[in-house]
Amino acid sequence: CKGINGLDKVVLRDPRGSTAEVYLYGAHVTSWKNDHGEELLFVSSKAIFKPPKAIRGGIPICFPQFGSQGSLEQHGFARNRFWSIDTDPPPFPTNSKSFIDLILKPSEEDMQKWPNSYEFRLRVALGTGGDLMLTSRIRNTNADGKPFTFTFAYHTYFSVSDISEVRVECLETLDYLDNLQNKERFTEQGDALTFESEVDKIYLSTPTKIAILDHEKKRTFVLRKDGLPDAVVWNPWDKKAKTMADFGDDEYKHMLCVEAAVVEKPITLKPGEEWKGRLELSAVPSSYCSGQ
Ligand code: BG6
Repeated sequence: CKGINGLDKVVLRDPRGSTAEVYLYGAHVTSWKNDHGEELLFVSSKAIFKPPKAIRGGIPICFPQFGSQGSLEQHGFARNRFWSIDTDPPPFPTNSKSFIDLILKPSEEDMQKWPNSYEFRLRVALGTGGDLMLTSRIRNTNADGKPFTFTFAYHTYFSVSDISEVRVECLETLDYLDNLQNKERFTEQGDALTFESEVDKIYLSTPTKIAILDHEKKRTFVLRKDGLPDAVVWNPWDKKAKTMADFGDDEYKHMLCVEAAVVEKPITLKPGEEWKGRLELSAVPSSYCSGQ
Protein backbone atom coordinates (compact mmCIF):
# COMPACT_ATOMS: atom_id res chain seq x y z
CA CYS A 1 0.00 0.00 0.00
CA LYS A 2 0.98 3.67 -0.09
CA GLY A 3 2.81 5.34 2.75
CA ILE A 4 3.92 8.93 3.35
CA ASN A 5 4.46 10.97 0.14
CA GLY A 6 2.89 8.14 -1.86
CA LEU A 7 5.89 5.86 -1.30
CA ASP A 8 5.17 2.14 -1.50
CA LYS A 9 5.19 0.26 1.76
CA VAL A 10 4.40 -3.26 2.91
CA VAL A 11 2.54 -3.91 6.16
CA LEU A 12 3.17 -7.21 7.95
CA ARG A 13 0.64 -8.48 10.48
CA ASP A 14 1.02 -11.34 12.90
CA PRO A 15 -2.23 -13.17 13.80
CA ARG A 16 -1.68 -12.16 17.45
CA GLY A 17 -1.71 -8.47 16.57
CA SER A 18 1.89 -7.30 16.19
CA THR A 19 2.74 -5.39 13.00
CA ALA A 20 5.69 -4.07 11.02
CA GLU A 21 5.93 -1.63 8.12
CA VAL A 22 8.61 -1.70 5.45
CA TYR A 23 9.14 1.02 2.85
CA LEU A 24 10.53 -0.11 -0.50
CA TYR A 25 12.54 3.12 -0.37
CA GLY A 26 15.65 1.84 1.44
CA ALA A 27 13.98 -1.49 2.37
CA HIS A 28 13.49 0.55 5.47
CA VAL A 29 11.51 -0.79 8.43
CA THR A 30 9.72 2.27 9.80
CA SER A 31 7.42 0.66 12.35
CA TRP A 32 7.33 -2.38 14.62
CA LYS A 33 4.43 -2.61 17.05
CA ASN A 34 3.73 -5.20 19.71
CA ASP A 35 0.33 -6.86 20.15
CA HIS A 36 -0.80 -3.94 22.36
CA GLY A 37 -0.21 -1.58 19.43
CA GLU A 38 2.79 0.06 21.14
CA GLU A 39 5.46 1.40 18.76
CA LEU A 40 8.88 -0.06 19.54
CA LEU A 41 11.00 1.83 16.99
CA PHE A 42 11.76 5.54 16.99
CA VAL A 43 11.05 7.60 13.88
CA SER A 44 11.65 11.34 14.06
CA SER A 45 8.64 13.64 13.76
CA LYS A 46 10.84 15.55 11.29
CA ALA A 47 11.80 12.52 9.20
CA ILE A 48 11.73 13.22 5.47
CA PHE A 49 10.17 10.40 3.50
CA LYS A 50 11.67 11.14 0.13
CA PRO A 51 14.89 10.69 -1.81
CA PRO A 52 17.74 11.42 -1.71
CA LYS A 53 18.13 11.14 2.08
CA ALA A 54 17.45 8.12 4.25
CA ILE A 55 14.46 8.19 6.57
CA ARG A 56 15.50 9.33 10.07
CA GLY A 57 14.56 6.46 12.36
CA GLY A 58 13.37 2.88 12.06
CA ILE A 59 15.97 0.54 10.60
CA PRO A 60 18.12 2.00 7.81
CA ILE A 61 20.33 -0.56 6.07
CA CYS A 62 23.97 0.55 5.81
CA PHE A 63 25.61 -1.09 2.77
CA PRO A 64 28.15 -1.35 1.14
CA GLN A 65 29.83 1.01 3.58
CA PHE A 66 29.20 1.71 7.23
CA GLY A 67 30.04 5.25 8.33
CA SER A 68 32.19 7.64 6.38
CA GLN A 69 35.43 5.72 6.10
CA GLY A 70 35.60 4.81 2.43
CA SER A 71 34.92 6.36 -0.94
CA LEU A 72 31.13 6.25 -0.73
CA GLU A 73 28.55 8.51 0.87
CA GLN A 74 28.03 8.06 4.64
CA HIS A 75 26.52 4.61 5.38
CA GLY A 76 26.51 3.62 1.68
CA PHE A 77 23.61 3.87 -0.74
CA ALA A 78 21.31 0.89 -0.01
CA ARG A 79 19.31 3.01 2.44
CA ASN A 80 18.34 5.50 -0.24
CA ARG A 81 17.62 3.27 -3.20
CA PHE A 82 14.26 1.91 -4.30
CA TRP A 83 14.19 -1.83 -3.65
CA SER A 84 11.87 -4.32 -5.40
CA ILE A 85 9.69 -7.05 -4.01
CA ASP A 86 11.46 -10.34 -4.68
CA THR A 87 8.68 -12.51 -6.06
CA ASP A 88 10.80 -15.61 -6.55
CA PRO A 89 13.48 -15.71 -3.86
CA PRO A 90 15.77 -18.73 -3.60
CA PRO A 91 14.44 -21.12 -0.95
CA PHE A 92 15.06 -19.91 2.56
CA PRO A 93 13.50 -21.52 5.63
CA THR A 94 11.20 -19.50 7.83
CA ASN A 95 8.99 -20.18 10.80
CA SER A 96 7.01 -17.03 10.09
CA LYS A 97 3.73 -16.68 8.24
CA SER A 98 4.16 -12.96 7.88
CA PHE A 99 7.19 -11.92 5.87
CA ILE A 100 8.33 -10.03 2.78
CA ASP A 101 11.36 -10.57 0.56
CA LEU A 102 12.99 -7.54 -1.01
CA ILE A 103 15.86 -7.30 -3.46
CA LEU A 104 18.38 -4.67 -4.52
CA LYS A 105 20.65 -4.87 -7.55
CA PRO A 106 23.00 -2.10 -8.64
CA SER A 107 21.87 0.52 -11.15
CA GLU A 108 24.29 1.81 -13.79
CA GLU A 109 24.82 4.90 -11.66
CA ASP A 110 25.62 2.76 -8.61
CA MET A 111 28.10 0.75 -10.69
CA GLN A 112 30.00 3.96 -11.37
CA LYS A 113 30.34 4.65 -7.67
CA TRP A 114 30.95 1.06 -6.63
CA PRO A 115 31.80 -1.07 -9.67
CA ASN A 116 30.42 -4.35 -8.44
CA SER A 117 27.51 -6.53 -9.34
CA TYR A 118 25.54 -8.05 -6.47
CA GLU A 119 22.16 -9.32 -5.37
CA PHE A 120 21.12 -8.11 -1.96
CA ARG A 121 18.10 -9.99 -0.62
CA LEU A 122 16.44 -8.85 2.58
CA ARG A 123 13.74 -10.81 4.33
CA VAL A 124 11.73 -8.97 6.98
CA ALA A 125 9.58 -11.30 9.07
CA LEU A 126 7.37 -11.17 12.15
CA GLY A 127 7.82 -14.20 14.38
CA THR A 128 5.35 -15.73 16.76
CA GLY A 129 5.37 -13.57 19.85
CA GLY A 130 5.92 -10.47 17.72
CA ASP A 131 9.68 -10.76 17.22
CA LEU A 132 11.04 -8.82 14.27
CA MET A 133 13.55 -10.74 12.16
CA LEU A 134 15.74 -9.32 9.42
CA THR A 135 17.91 -11.53 7.27
CA SER A 136 20.26 -10.09 4.67
CA ARG A 137 21.81 -12.28 2.01
CA ILE A 138 24.37 -10.58 -0.19
CA ARG A 139 25.79 -12.41 -3.20
CA ASN A 140 28.69 -11.38 -5.40
CA THR A 141 27.51 -11.67 -9.02
CA ASN A 142 30.56 -10.06 -10.62
CA ALA A 143 31.16 -11.65 -14.01
CA ASP A 144 34.84 -10.76 -14.17
CA GLY A 145 36.02 -12.94 -11.28
CA LYS A 146 36.51 -9.90 -9.03
CA PRO A 147 35.92 -10.16 -5.28
CA PHE A 148 34.36 -7.25 -3.40
CA THR A 149 34.57 -6.01 0.15
CA PHE A 150 31.90 -4.26 2.22
CA THR A 151 30.87 -3.20 5.69
CA PHE A 152 27.30 -3.30 6.94
CA ALA A 153 24.85 -2.30 9.69
CA TYR A 154 21.22 -2.60 10.71
CA HIS A 155 21.05 0.97 12.02
CA THR A 156 18.20 0.32 14.45
CA TYR A 157 16.60 3.28 16.28
CA PHE A 158 14.88 1.94 19.41
CA SER A 159 12.13 3.96 21.04
CA VAL A 160 12.86 4.59 24.73
CA SER A 161 10.90 6.55 27.32
CA ASP A 162 13.85 8.51 28.76
CA ILE A 163 17.44 7.99 27.62
CA SER A 164 18.78 8.83 31.10
CA GLU A 165 16.89 5.81 32.49
CA VAL A 166 18.19 3.36 29.89
CA ARG A 167 20.92 0.73 30.35
CA VAL A 168 22.60 -1.42 27.74
CA GLU A 169 23.88 -4.76 28.97
CA CYS A 170 26.29 -7.28 27.47
CA LEU A 171 28.80 -4.72 26.10
CA GLU A 172 30.65 -4.03 29.37
CA THR A 173 34.41 -4.83 29.37
CA LEU A 174 34.54 -4.93 25.55
CA ASP A 175 36.87 -2.96 23.29
CA TYR A 176 35.37 -0.14 21.24
CA LEU A 177 36.36 2.47 18.68
CA ASP A 178 35.21 5.93 19.72
CA ASN A 179 33.97 7.94 16.75
CA LEU A 180 34.06 11.06 18.95
CA GLN A 181 37.79 10.55 19.62
CA ASN A 182 39.27 9.91 16.16
CA LYS A 183 38.14 6.29 16.21
CA GLU A 184 40.67 5.54 18.94
CA ARG A 185 40.40 2.14 20.58
CA PHE A 186 39.39 1.92 24.27
CA THR A 187 38.16 -0.78 26.63
CA GLU A 188 34.78 -0.31 28.31
CA GLN A 189 35.16 -0.27 32.08
CA GLY A 190 32.71 -1.34 34.70
CA ASP A 191 28.98 -1.78 34.54
CA ALA A 192 26.20 -1.69 32.00
CA LEU A 193 26.23 1.37 29.74
CA THR A 194 24.21 4.39 30.79
CA PHE A 195 23.79 7.68 28.94
CA GLU A 196 24.41 11.26 29.96
CA SER A 197 26.02 12.79 26.85
CA GLU A 198 26.62 12.19 23.15
CA VAL A 199 27.81 8.68 22.37
CA ASP A 200 29.09 7.21 19.09
CA LYS A 201 31.01 4.00 19.73
CA ILE A 202 31.68 0.85 17.77
CA TYR A 203 31.90 -2.12 20.13
CA LEU A 204 34.00 -4.93 18.70
CA SER A 205 33.50 -8.69 18.77
CA THR A 206 30.30 -8.42 20.76
CA PRO A 207 28.23 -11.34 22.10
CA THR A 208 25.34 -12.61 19.98
CA LYS A 209 22.85 -11.14 22.47
CA ILE A 210 22.59 -7.55 23.63
CA ALA A 211 19.93 -6.17 25.97
CA ILE A 212 18.53 -2.63 26.22
CA LEU A 213 16.69 -2.04 29.48
CA ASP A 214 14.08 0.71 29.62
CA HIS A 215 13.26 1.07 33.32
CA GLU A 216 10.43 3.53 32.93
CA LYS A 217 8.62 1.37 30.37
CA LYS A 218 9.59 -1.83 32.24
CA ARG A 219 10.64 -3.17 28.86
CA THR A 220 13.77 -4.90 27.66
CA PHE A 221 14.74 -5.10 24.03
CA VAL A 222 16.79 -8.15 23.22
CA LEU A 223 18.91 -8.20 20.07
CA ARG A 224 20.05 -11.58 18.84
CA LYS A 225 22.43 -11.48 15.92
CA ASP A 226 24.34 -13.76 13.67
CA GLY A 227 27.15 -12.86 11.26
CA LEU A 228 27.29 -9.36 12.78
CA PRO A 229 30.19 -9.21 15.24
CA ASP A 230 30.19 -5.46 16.02
CA ALA A 231 27.62 -3.20 17.66
CA VAL A 232 27.41 0.56 17.19
CA VAL A 233 25.84 2.60 19.99
CA TRP A 234 24.76 6.10 19.01
CA ASN A 235 22.83 8.97 20.52
CA PRO A 236 23.46 12.49 19.19
CA TRP A 237 22.41 14.25 22.43
CA ASP A 238 21.32 17.89 22.45
CA LYS A 239 24.04 19.80 20.54
CA LYS A 240 24.32 17.39 17.61
CA ALA A 241 20.50 17.05 17.52
CA LYS A 242 20.25 20.78 16.81
CA THR A 243 22.47 20.42 13.75
CA MET A 244 20.27 17.71 12.21
CA ALA A 245 17.48 19.12 10.03
CA ASP A 246 15.44 15.90 10.13
CA PHE A 247 15.59 15.39 13.90
CA GLY A 248 13.76 17.31 16.66
CA ASP A 249 15.86 19.19 19.22
CA ASP A 250 14.59 17.09 22.16
CA GLU A 251 14.05 13.79 20.40
CA TYR A 252 17.42 12.42 21.53
CA LYS A 253 15.74 11.73 24.88
CA HIS A 254 13.45 9.17 23.30
CA MET A 255 15.76 7.14 21.08
CA LEU A 256 18.85 5.00 21.17
CA CYS A 257 20.59 3.38 18.23
CA VAL A 258 22.13 -0.02 18.85
CA GLU A 259 23.27 -1.27 15.49
CA ALA A 260 24.24 -4.86 14.76
CA ALA A 261 27.12 -4.38 12.32
CA VAL A 262 30.22 -5.55 10.51
CA VAL A 263 32.73 -2.70 10.75
CA GLU A 264 36.15 -3.67 12.05
CA LYS A 265 36.74 -6.64 9.76
CA PRO A 266 35.00 -6.03 6.42
CA ILE A 267 33.47 -8.96 4.53
CA THR A 268 35.08 -10.05 1.26
CA LEU A 269 33.06 -12.16 -1.17
CA LYS A 270 34.37 -13.89 -4.26
CA PRO A 271 32.03 -14.23 -7.24
CA GLY A 272 29.28 -16.73 -6.42
CA GLU A 273 29.83 -16.41 -2.67
CA GLU A 274 27.08 -15.25 -0.33
CA TRP A 275 27.16 -13.58 3.07
CA LYS A 276 24.32 -13.77 5.55
CA GLY A 277 23.63 -11.39 8.44
CA ARG A 278 20.67 -11.95 10.71
CA LEU A 279 19.09 -9.77 13.38
CA GLU A 280 16.24 -10.78 15.63
CA LEU A 281 14.61 -8.22 17.90
CA SER A 282 12.25 -8.92 20.74
CA ALA A 283 10.68 -6.68 23.35
CA VAL A 284 10.09 -8.46 26.65
CA PRO A 285 8.92 -7.32 30.09
CA SER A 286 11.87 -8.70 32.08
CA SER A 287 15.63 -8.10 31.86
CA TYR A 288 18.50 -10.41 31.30
CA CYS A 289 21.98 -10.55 29.87
CA SER A 290 23.69 -13.55 28.41
CA GLY A 291 26.69 -14.02 26.23
CA GLN A 292 25.34 -17.26 24.77
C1 BG6 B 1 25.82 6.25 13.40
C2 BG6 B 1 27.22 6.76 13.27
O1 BG6 B 1 25.79 4.91 13.05
O2 BG6 B 1 24.98 6.98 12.51
C3 BG6 B 1 27.25 8.25 13.57
O3 BG6 B 1 28.08 6.05 14.14
C4 BG6 B 1 26.27 8.99 12.68
O4 BG6 B 1 28.56 8.76 13.42
C5 BG6 B 1 24.90 8.36 12.80
O5 BG6 B 1 26.23 10.36 13.05
C6 BG6 B 1 23.83 8.97 11.91
O6 BG6 B 1 24.24 8.97 10.58
P1 BG6 B 1 23.32 9.58 9.45
O7 BG6 B 1 24.14 9.52 8.18
O8 BG6 B 1 22.10 8.72 9.35
O9 BG6 B 1 23.00 10.98 9.87
